[in-house]
Amino acid sequence: MSQQYIIICYSTSQMLRADSLLKAMDVETDLIPTPSEHGTICSTAIAIGEKDKGKAEKILAEGNFAVKGIFPHKTRKLSGLMESLKNCVISQTFKDIMKKVESGEDLTKDEITYLLKVEGESELKALFETADRMRKEIVGDIVEVRAAIEFSNYCNKSCHYCGIRNGCTVPTRYRMTEDEIMEGVHELHRVGIKTVVLQSGEDDYYTLEVLIKLIKRIKRETKMGITLSVGERSYEEYKALKEAGANNYLLKIETTNPDIFKFIHPDDDLEYRRQCAQWLKELGYVNASGNMIGLPGQRAEDIAEDILFYKEMGIHMIGIGPFIPAAGTPFEKYPQGSVEMTLKAVAVTRLVCKNVFIPATTALASVDPDGQKKALQAGANSLMLISTPPKYRSNYQIYSNKNMIDLDSAVKAIHDAGRKLPKYLKLDNNQQEE
Ligand code: 5AD
Repeated sequence: MSQQYIIICYSTSQMLRADSLLKAMDVETDLIPTPSEHGTICSTAIAIGEKDKGKAEKILAEGNFAVKGIFPHKTRKLSGLMESLKNCVISQTFKDIMKKVESGEDLTKDEITYLLKVEGESELKALFETADRMRKEIVGDIVEVRAAIEFSNYCNKSCHYCGIRNGCTVPTRYRMTEDEIMEGVHELHRVGIKTVVLQSGEDDYYTLEVLIKLIKRIKRETKMGITLSVGERSYEEYKALKEAGANNYLLKIETTNPDIFKFIHPDDDLEYRRQCAQWLKELGYVNASGNMIGLPGQRAEDIAEDILFYKEMGIHMIGIGPFIPAAGTPFEKYPQGSVEMTLKAVAVTRLVCKNVFIPATTALASVDPDGQKKALQAGANSLMLISTPPKYRSNYQIYSNKNMIDLDSAVKAIHDAGRKLPKYLKLDNNQQEE
């Protein structure tokens, strides 16, 4: 592949203007997470080919675009990796793949699949340790902490795996009012959380108007970053929500295998889901996706495709969790996804996508009390608290026995994993000493 260059801008809106100007002048561009050496991963950079570098500089200069800079896009290497693996009992194929990781070469689908199929204890250890090194190299030791308010469990979709699907008997359906949501937002603001995730089922009650009013109020009263996770919407709606102030959007692809996607989503279409991801990217959202591990019929090859999708789509944040059978759903008797496979997927995603945020998911914590710690040691770098008010929480059982991640359990996972708390958290003394 020829050398790529990346253009780093001062703001998302400037980046979007620069991108459309370049595109209009026939420069081929790609939007990717900002490499961590140039800024925060949770922002977007414009990638261009070497052949267009001069042209792009000219266009930006003529358009009076002051950008932060245009830099060669270096793929991240892991120097010293082979040396560190020299005493490990690993196969020749594993070694060859690790050599590519060391020198920063892209892995093929076959190589990704090979890593996902690794089973021996020493190879697993080598895989997790390598992903952990890559995580340290890219994002360092601080674990980002975000918090979700699940503000409505009404949903008009019937995804077969989901415990709040339409048609599922949920103890109580609830909708939080704007004031109730704001109360939760202020509480998070008080403890120093910087980004709130607003999640719900696909609930038409929260019209564009209602959501925009809420977003503006959160910005006005707290200036917090806002992640929306309210499902599939139209381009126009995504655009209006972005303009109102939403920063990030979480819409998981769940699986890129068309047959499995259809089998688990009676109301959805994989192509539309991909289209949504593309729109979110073009609109300048920090784009969060993810998949489930252990879906019916899913093979390592399918997970490899999911990982390649994240890379090609320039996804910023990737949440990977085991499938967990939810009581009362058509999938309640299906076997649970494996923790080990989930951890392998986390590790390989870190090695392939490198410059991304990977949360240690709530689903992992729900099936293994040490699940989040293990994920943090296998490539993950963030945690999401569940900050839905206690009186509603138990009704947001997207899967059975969903664990409640509060600040204390997050602090514990971070300490257990030997990692650092973010400075912005305002903890009381007990929590800091833990
Ligand atoms: N098992 C595991 N994860 C699930 N999710 C929903 N239902 C389940 C389940 N039964 C995950 C999906 C969804 C996110 C909100 O929760 O990945 O995107």
